[in-house]
Amino acid sequence: MEQKKVYVETYGCQMNVADSEVVQSIMHGAGFRNVATPADADVILVNTCAIRENAEARVYGRLGDFKHLKKGNPGVVVGVLGCMAERLRKDLMETESFVDLVVGPDEYRKLPDLVEGALTGEKGIAVRLSRVENYDDIIPLRTDGVSAWVSVMRGCDKFCTFCVVPFTRGRERSRSLTGVVREVEDLVARGFKEVTLLGQNVNSYRDDGKDFADLLAAVAAVDRTVRVRFTTSHPQDMSDKLIATIAGQPNICNYVHLPVQSGSDRVLELMNRTYTADHYLRLVEKIKRTIPGVSLSTDIISGFPTETEEEHKMTVDLLRGVEFDGAFTFKYSPRENTKAWSMGDSVPDEVKLRRLNEIIDTQRQISFRKNQTEIGRTVEVLVEGESKKSMHEFCGRTDTNKTVVFPKNGVRAGEYARYIIERANAATLFGRSISTN
Ligand code: 5AD
Ligand code: SF4
Repeated sequence: MEQKKVYVETYGCQMNVADSEVVQSIMHGAGFRNVATPADADVILVNTCAIRENAEARVYGRLGDFKHLKKGNPGVVVGVLGCMAERLRKDLMETESFVDLVVGPDEYRKLPDLVEGALTGEKGIAVRLSRVENYDDIIPLRTDGVSAWVSVMRGCDKFCTFCVVPFTRGRERSRSLTGVVREVEDLVARGFKEVTLLGQNVNSYRDDGKDFADLLAAVAAVDRTVRVRFTTSHPQDMSDKLIATIAGQPNICNYVHLPVQSGSDRVLELMNRTYTADHYLRLVEKIKRTIPGVSLSTDIISGFPTETEEEHKMTVDLLRGVEFDGAFTFKYSPRENTKAWSMGDSVPDEVKLRRLNEIIDTQRQISFRKNQTEIGRTVEVLVEGESKKSMHEFCGRTDTNKTVVFPKNGVRAGEYARYIIERANAATLFGRSISTN
């Protein structure tokens, strides 16, 4: 019998990218071959994101394409996976009648059976969340490259009041330290040069008395020429031990993504973030002091229910005070079943947008100014590949996660190279080779 073909498309965060690699591995184990275009596939799986309404809107738009495709080829199976599957469950199948499968993030081991049923016309749904599933024994199916994402824990117990993740991904659970280290050893043997450890809240990683700092140190010891990154940290769980571990190990990158969300204590309390702006600022001071040259980024939400103009200004002030190297900024999006949902959506959309733009502008100025100070410096870059904008240039990143664009001068992807920064904008540094004379 001819090998069946599966196509997987991924939306949302890096955790979903990592999950799709697990899904591909499971399907591969069941005899499926991965294909790169939906038109070639017998089975189309869409791994979805539910974090904000616009993330879901994008997926709905794409599902429209697959509906069309299925009209021409009624035998094709369409499955919706991930956070939207978990959030909407059977409603999704009722509103989108061409969808054959709805499978939540903890049920991927059932995919081969569900797909087999769907290929004979039987619709399937599996959306139970698990307290233990961590796919520790599954080797994700990856294409070779420079950087790999390694999921180390799943779920989130923080229950920030705006966030669906605790509902769509369930309770926190960690993979084994030995399982993660073994996976990284395999990646290194295959030539990967950078690994990013992933979890919704990596700092609450636990395995048999070992914490996230222990895991990070163990991963960094696998090969000192391989860079180690991690995301995401919650300010409440950022321990001194973890900060010291980052500072003390040369191949753990000097970069921390530390979402603050707001600069107002009242809003932070409504968000259930469990810290104050002052606590956050003191934490940042400690990180900067302990890890010289550290680069910091954050997440900000504009227009949380009842947020006043004054409170928005506190967020802008906090950005100025910390001087992040980058910020991911979002308009508040109400999500059903979260606590914030019942607080209403009191900030009008145009106010949210104006505040968002002020936040973006402020951060752009800061990023620009900080990047100007890099001019004249020599930086070490891990070469990633061709620059998006020019085939005559390569791009890569510094240890501090800054993107550098430089001429192709004999270096190859996966190599380390040094460049002198000669100009910079808010997003990118431009380097030139260090002349040998
Ligand atoms: N609306 C807007 N932004 C959100 N985030 C999470 N939930 C929402 C929401 N309902 C943002 C937070 C989080 C990031 C991953 O997404 O800033 O840190
Ligand atoms: Fe959502 Fe908060 Fe958990 Fe992050 S820490 S996934 S924002 S609940």
